Amino acid sequence: MLTTEQLEAWERDGFLVIEDFVSAARCDELKARAEELIRGFDPSEIQSIFSTHEQTRTSDEYFLSSGDKVRFFVEEEDTRTVNKIGHALHDLDPVFDAFSRNPDLAAVASDIGLRDPRILQSMYIVKAPHVGGEVTSHTDHTFLWTEPASVVGMWFAIEDATLENGCMWALPGGHRLPVRKRFRREGDGTVFDTFDPAPYPSEGEVPLPARKGTLVLLHGLLPHRSDANRSDRPRDAYTIHVIDGTAHYPADNWLQRSPDLPARGF
Ligand code: FE2
Repeated sequence: MLTTEQLEAWERDGFLVIEDFVSAARCDELKARAEELIRGFDPSEIQSIFSTHEQTRTSDEYFLSSGDKVRFFVEEEDTRTVNKIGHALHDLDPVFDAFSRNPDLAAVASDIGLRDPRILQSMYIVKAPHVGGEVTSHTDHTFLWTEPASVVGMWFAIEDATLENGCMWALPGGHRLPVRKRFRREGDGTVFDTFDPAPYPSEGEVPLPARKGTLVLLHGLLPHRSDANRSDRPRDAYTIHVIDGTAHYPADNWLQRSPDLPARGF
């Protein structure tokens, strides 16, 4: 599936941008399905989480038990606006399942060295006009830890992602830096283990504008981020996180799936 040049770029940079991987029609179909799910969501469910006295604990619980469900998360600035849907769309929703599982993606996973690829997590990210929030620099391995590190992000532009509406930024070669944090469960909540408190360098970061239908592969150790969307245009994206089933998956990772719904491949 991937050319020698693409594989060299992937190993050198820790990311790879593949334009026109998905047709515009399939992007539209996925977006329509996401909008249908959002219309069926009752925001008062979330409002109650934000207004409870035990806000941290209940929102932690809502998040921590979402690994094998379809749940809605809202913008910090505007809790009536859905920010994303996660985290098992690819297993529980037929439209997302069909989008996430196909031979082309399986071939990409194999080309980049995943021996037993498992789609662990999916997110539909809305990043709505004007209110879509920023995501600060992080690595996905921090959140989806395996030993050895194996997670790969497969990010799809469902709308054009531009500098104006909050496209992805990444640090070329940053996947060779040692990981600085690990996010994990502790008790009823979560903690970060910090190995290096310094933020990831912003010098050398490059924007990854992506036309609708583009696939961006992100190495699990690559620092990446995205800006807020202050534009009039939507920046919908869909991402799946794939791990290698041959790696160890710790029991204190935030994302735990029910034995009835184990992570499957393509
Ligand atoms: Fe990420």
